[in-house]
Amino acid sequence: MRPLDGSLALITGASRGIGACLAAALRRRGAEVLDISRNPSPGGVACDLASPHDRRRLIADLNAAGRPIDLLIHNAGIQRALDLTSPCDDPAQEITVNLTAPVELTAGLLPLIRKPGGSIVTLTSLLALHPKTSAPVYCASKAGLSSFTKALRSQLAPLGIHVVEVQPPLVDTDMTQGRARNPMSAERMAEAIVAGLEGGRAVIAPGLARKVRLLNRIAPGLVAASLRNS
Ligand SMILES: NC(=O)c1ccc[n+]([C@@H]2O[C@H](COP(=O)([O-])OP(=O)(O)OC[C@H]3O[C@@H](n4cnc5c(N)ncnc54)[C@H](OP(=O)(O)O)[C@@H]3O)[C@@H](O)[C@H]2O)c1
Repeated sequence: MRPLDGSLALITGASRGIGACLAAALRRRGAEVLDISRNPSPGGVACDLASPHDRRRLIADLNAAGRPIDLLIHNAGIQRALDLTSPCDDPAQEITVNLTAPVELTAGLLPLIRKPGGSIVTLTSLLALHPKTSAPVYCASKAGLSSFTKALRSQLAPLGIHVVEVQPPLVDTDMTQGRARNPMSAERMAEAIVAGLEGGRAVIAPGLARKVRLLNRIAPGLVAASLRNS
């Protein structure tokens, strides 16, 4: 990976939560950060990733500007409790924001990613390993994103593009409000991501996430049972 100082990083969902702390951590290391959110931080780009029109416009505008991108970080995400036995508006919403948007942005912005030396980062979840019952579509979107990340890593390796998967433990943000037991702070999570990027890691899973991944290798049934009702 190129040094962060002087690099250009695009982060979806840097208006709050992990993304905002990650943007701050990257800026402290001298990177220029562009936030892509519905309510972006100052200097960012307003974009509703659920909207096909907004996604196409974003890709077209960035290609027209033509600036090389060093880091493309797919961080924006939504999670809803969803009971499919009851009527539900737009049940596939998480697929659009959490999976379709990263796939389309990756394909549309690939000409701009620096070769060699650029990085593409996805934030998946431990729930990509096994789903929890209360958020079936979120878990499906993250399992899909995790699979996409692995295939992308193989496809882009010959171009010198580094593809990184981040699997956070439970982190204290709006997304986890009211259900986080001993969560990691978003600041600490962001520092772990930056350290992992600087260390050239392919997978960044700090704290409890690392232990869960290790346990999953030897006792996947146990991990599945504990995540099911998490
Ligand atoms: N927190 C955890 O414990 C945890 C664990 C595992 C994985 N993750 C993953 O980590 C990532 C960040 O999570 P977080 O906890 O920081 O979430 P968060 O605090 O809820 O923040 C979500 C971010 O995504 C943006 N976003 C949501 N919908 C969007 C849309 N339609 N278009 C554009 N931007 C949108 C939001 O910005 P606007 O509202 O301004 O659009 C916000 O900046 C997510 O992918 C999440 O799945 C989190």
